[in-house]
Amino acid sequence: MTIQFNDESFRDDYTFHNSEWAIKRFPFPFHEDSYMYSVNMEQHRGGPEGSVYEMRFDVDEHYVSEMKDRAIVLDQDPLRCQSLPHMTLAGWDLLELIMVSKSEDYPDLFELHRNGNQWRWINKPLGIDHSFTFMDETTLPYGPMEYITRQAQGDFAVLDQRDEMLWMDAGMVTTQADWSLDFDIGMNFFEWHAPVPKAHEMGIFKRALKFLLNIQQGAPARRLNWTMTVNPLLDTSPENYHKWGIQKTTLTPENIAHKQHLRVELQTFFRLPRSNALVFPIRCYLCSFQDLMTVPKWGRRLHRVVRDLPVELATYKGFIDNRPMMLDYLSQFDDGLPTSPGV
Ligand code: HEM
Repeated sequence: MTIQFNDESFRDDYTFHNSEWAIKRFPFPFHEDSYMYSVNMEQHRGGPEGSVYEMRFDVDEHYVSEMKDRAIVLDQDPLRCQSLPHMTLAGWDLLELIMVSKSEDYPDLFELHRNGNQWRWINKPLGIDHSFTFMDETTLPYGPMEYITRQAQGDFAVLDQRDEMLWMDAGMVTTQADWSLDFDIGMNFFEWHAPVPKAHEMGIFKRALKFLLNIQQGAPARRLNWTMTVNPLLDTSPENYHKWGIQKTTLTPENIAHKQHLRVELQTFFRLPRSNALVFPIRCYLCSFQDLMTVPKWGRRLHRVVRDLPVELATYKGFIDNRPMMLDYLSQFDDGLPTSPGV
């Protein structure tokens, strides 16, 4: 497979764009005409060829630019990457998981050569050729989690599992939908989910935790989550809310088609071997309304989902004020025809 990497930005002049290929494989998250939270978990063992589910860690045309954006965020705010001292072993587990997966799934882009603990990692898109000693931090420029997640799209929460609970004890979080690693570090599953409306009363988090505690090595799982973002911003963090929050007020009927983006997170869950930690990669995919509308069934359905979403969810997801304008735009693409179940 050959990927043509885009040269693009997720800030300032926003040159981010999706190719036709990227639009076609966009993980449109709605299986029906309405949406409510659920324990929407399934196995993550491949998917249709070319889809974002095919590989363990999807690499696409945005890879190189996303990694540049991450480096900018970390430069301005090093606390976006944190690992409590007992999580270093999980960092090595994660480094191994990503290096092995990427070199097997994309052999033309990544190579891993192992001779005992002497490893050589080649990352062609980022121009890296690095030899190091596995489990020896002094042979890497950063800690193992930071080293590898500077080379992997999406955010990563690394959860320690103890006392039948998950604890957010490490992470690399630069592309998040308005939550903060620095705030959540050390919290448990129920604590960091506290701000989410309705889901606690529905028993979703209790059931989800039970599922996660039992995830086994070699049997990863996945789910989708979604929200809305004005401008193709990766970094919509609370830390930078003063920069991006205001941009929501710049939406107009004239610019909504290219400014408003559906933001979908492909969330996966992998058990790590030595540490027994759970890693939670959160991969963000952005698609503008105008690109989404090129697929007629998505246009119809998005209109209905946005229209009927409970106020609490539209408020939590941060688009309650812009919802009427979105509906004016989206309604043009809803011809009233029935949609069939599935994406
Ligand atoms: C939201 C983390 C697993 C359901 C969130 C938030 C965080 C988070 C940080 C934002 C909360 C805020 O507003 O500050 C995690 C981590 C997980 C995990 C680290 C892995 C261990 C799950 C699972 C489910 C789930 C398995 C359900 C099956 C939700 C829902 C929201 C949420 C429904 C609200 C999202 C929205 O409306 O946009 N999660 N989560 N999470 N999480 Fe999780």
